[in-house]
Amino acid sequence: MRSSRTSPRVRLAALLAGAVTVGALVTAGTTTAHAADTPLRDLAAARGKAMGTAVTGSKLTGTYGDIAGAQFNWLTPGNAMKWESVEPTRGSHNWAEADQIVAFAEAHDQDVRGHTLVWHSQNPGWLANGSWTPAQLSTLMNDHIALEVGRYKGRVAAWDVVNEPFNEDGTYRQTLWYNGLGSGYIAQALTAARAADPAAKLYINDYNVEGVNAKSTALYNLVKSLKEQGVPIDGVGLQAHLILGQVPATLQQNIQRFADLGVDVAITELDIRMNLPADSAKLAQQAADYKAVMNACLAVTRCTGVTVWGFTDSDSWIPSTFPGQGAATPYDDNYAPKPAYRAIVEALGGTSTPPTGACTAVYSVTSQWNTGFTGQVKISCAGAALSGWKAGWTFGAGQKLTSVWNANCTQTGATVSCANASYNGTVPDGGSVTFGFNGSWSGSNPVPSVTLG
Ligand code: XIL
Repeated sequence: MRSSRTSPRVRLAALLAGAVTVGALVTAGTTTAHAADTPLRDLAAARGKAMGTAVTGSKLTGTYGDIAGAQFNWLTPGNAMKWESVEPTRGSHNWAEADQIVAFAEAHDQDVRGHTLVWHSQNPGWLANGSWTPAQLSTLMNDHIALEVGRYKGRVAAWDVVNEPFNEDGTYRQTLWYNGLGSGYIAQALTAARAADPAAKLYINDYNVEGVNAKSTALYNLVKSLKEQGVPIDGVGLQAHLILGQVPATLQQNIQRFADLGVDVAITELDIRMNLPADSAKLAQQAADYKAVMNACLAVTRCTGVTVWGFTDSDSWIPSTFPGQGAATPYDDNYAPKPAYRAIVEALGGTSTPPTGACTAVYSVTSQWNTGFTGQVKISCAGAALSGWKAGWTFGAGQKLTSVWNANCTQTGATVSCANASYNGTVPDGGSVTFGFNGSWSGSNPVPSVTLG
């Protein structure tokens, strides 16, 4: 696997993402502070864990793309690799979105979870509605796996080979595959996937198997028997589509019992839904729930990491699938990190900064003469304090700082980076800190946008 990440990159694009500049008069600009926490992927990598998200290929530009690239080190295509997406018409394949997501992941030094090869849902009509002999089904399944896994050989680190094989009571789900091939379809699918890419980690993935219960025990018994038979199985995916306040108390114990079988465990589709509208009490409970899931994974060495099923509420399947419910992900509809995001940061050992929008920086030119000017940046906070601040900007017309007071600034080319002085590092909730500078200019002296961190 390509998942060793000892020196993760900090992604400037994402640090800048979401910055909004409002020019006021000719001399002032305002920038909204945004999350300046160490990216989740870096915190997770430092703990030896993956932090992933499901993504929609068409959205991987702008702020969505910036966050997906900067914050996560694993990506799962939310729909793009499902059978109905890749072979809508028999024999006619469409790999466009899947290819795009894999290329995006490679460009951002991310691993891909392939999702999913053999499932009862989101199959193309021709397959789902066809009438097949067992021999035909067997060939269809083998060929599909060989083609899809083969296409991404060496580029997809882990596959959800079989998805959702069990009923709630632990019996096998009656599906196209089970009904035609019996429970042996699972071993057959795993064997075909191993043949197509020996290096990919092969998973069985299901929901409502997070705690110890009848369904997870059936999955446990299956994995145990597959291991005993020498069938290639590397991991178990616990989807974790959870309900607010209902993280199973036995989550860690359950992860551990699978790990003790000698397989990896991944939280593959985490979201925590609530009845809408969200309010601060629900968001606080959700944060506690996210932290509990993170902590359970962190506590078990063989838990490889956590993937959220969409990182923003604007890209979550919950509202359309569970009417009246939503707000299930770590970022709100407008990409502002929610308390759940900060809970993940804290669980991973990072320090979380104030909510986005709590602090603003206003740059103004307070006086200007033929070749010089005096300016200032005022950082104000409302709703949370800021401790240990950084402020940066890029001059747009060749301006140069000549002296600075109440901050430590360096200028490299057009780029200015400032940090607090020893005595003014805290901007209190409801208060402000101002630092000033002299500079030179010629031609024009436009106001830059300031990024707070
Ligand atoms: C969901 C997608 O997020 C939706 O966009 C789609 O309409 C339905 O499927 N378990 C899984 C995922 O394994 O593939 C599902 O994804 C969510 C439940």
